[in-house]
Amino acid sequence: MVKHRESRPGQKAAGGLGAKPRRDMPGKPPAKPAHASRPAKPARDHGERVNEPRDAATASAAPERPLIVRSGERPAERVPVILESLGAGDFHLIDSGNGLKLEQYGPYRIVRPEAQALWPPTLASHVWDNAEAIFTGDTDEDGMGRWRFPREALGETWPLQLLGVDFLGRFTAFRHVGVFPEQIVHWAWMKEQVEAAKRPLKVLNLFGYTGVASLVAAAAGAEVTHVDASKKAIGWARENQALGRMEKLPIRWICEDAMKFILREERRGNKYDIILTDPPKFGRGPNGEVWHLFEHLPLMLDICREILSPKALGLVLTAYSIRASFYSIHELMRETMRGAGGVVESGELVIREAGLDGRTPGRALSTSLFSRWVPK
Ligand SMILES: C[S@@+](CC[C@H](N)C(=O)[O-])C[C@H]1O[C@@H](n2cnc3c(N)ncnc32)[C@H](O)[C@@H]1O
Repeated sequence: MVKHRESRPGQKAAGGLGAKPRRDMPGKPPAKPAHASRPAKPARDHGERVNEPRDAATASAAPERPLIVRSGERPAERVPVILESLGAGDFHLIDSGNGLKLEQYGPYRIVRPEAQALWPPTLASHVWDNAEAIFTGDTDEDGMGRWRFPREALGETWPLQLLGVDFLGRFTAFRHVGVFPEQIVHWAWMKEQVEAAKRPLKVLNLFGYTGVASLVAAAAGAEVTHVDASKKAIGWARENQALGRMEKLPIRWICEDAMKFILREERRGNKYDIILTDPPKFGRGPNGEVWHLFEHLPLMLDICREILSPKALGLVLTAYSIRASFYSIHELMRETMRGAGGVVESGELVIREAGLDGRTPGRALSTSLFSRWVPK
């Protein structure tokens, strides 16, 4: 179901990092407060991706600590890698076209905007019209809108399963449904690593949203730390844990700004074997801390490297709806991981249409960019 395609090894490129580098040891207290030091606008807590324009009040906080100057060779590379999924568990993409996608989530067929679906749909319009739920409203990736239920009124949530983990699908105001199933390729990879390891792995899930990845990791045997700024999202994640009767699994649910959290972990010397980070383009911590992907990602990866354990198995970054090529996160990842050995593989996460039966491959829909460092 998950295919890896590799071709055209890339060429050498210099990594351009935003913050000023320092020659320094990790773990020193930050020279300047920063990221968190802006006057806080009220934090929005809807457990959603938020896409706010930059403004003078929120832009370019000084970095928490300078970037570490890395020496040594950059890791080897594999590019482009297209990680493709035909769906799994209760999810598949049925059809797409005319700026929309038709997806199956358990018992429901759902229509949502999809700006990349420039082509015409394959299936007849009556199939689309018969969907259980249709999201209308803002076509912007993170815009508000509302759900219409043409057949009968539906409740806010319904049960779903992916990779053997139970969780709730959820009609949210921001078109999302409580899970980003394109991530399944990363989750399946992580599950494999955790199950194959002959020791309990420590997994850190940054920007963890409703916790599906955390539950997959914990069910596979990992000790998981899940960080998200949204109280609401953490609440949904705990509900998901209870739904699958997984309360006994070792998951720490932490409602905090992701950057603040990893800075503290760095100072404390805590380490993780696998780190997943799925940052939005723009977000806010619980105390109004500002997250801007283009400003803060170099430092975030820099810190993530410092909190990888000596026997780490991966650092996985996904980036949605940004105006950038996967090469920008690829080269950043390679610069960050200089001297660590291993390989950086980068490309796109793609969902392939699977038709009404969930088994008939159609067109490929790109969902996000990713870059992943692995030790070999
Ligand atoms: C892109 S979603 C993550 C999706 C998730 N990894 C998945 O695939 O199900 C973004 C999440 O980041 C959280 N977030 C936004 N800004 C944050 C910040 N500064 N610190 C921590 N979490 C943040 C949001 O609350 C939201 O749950």
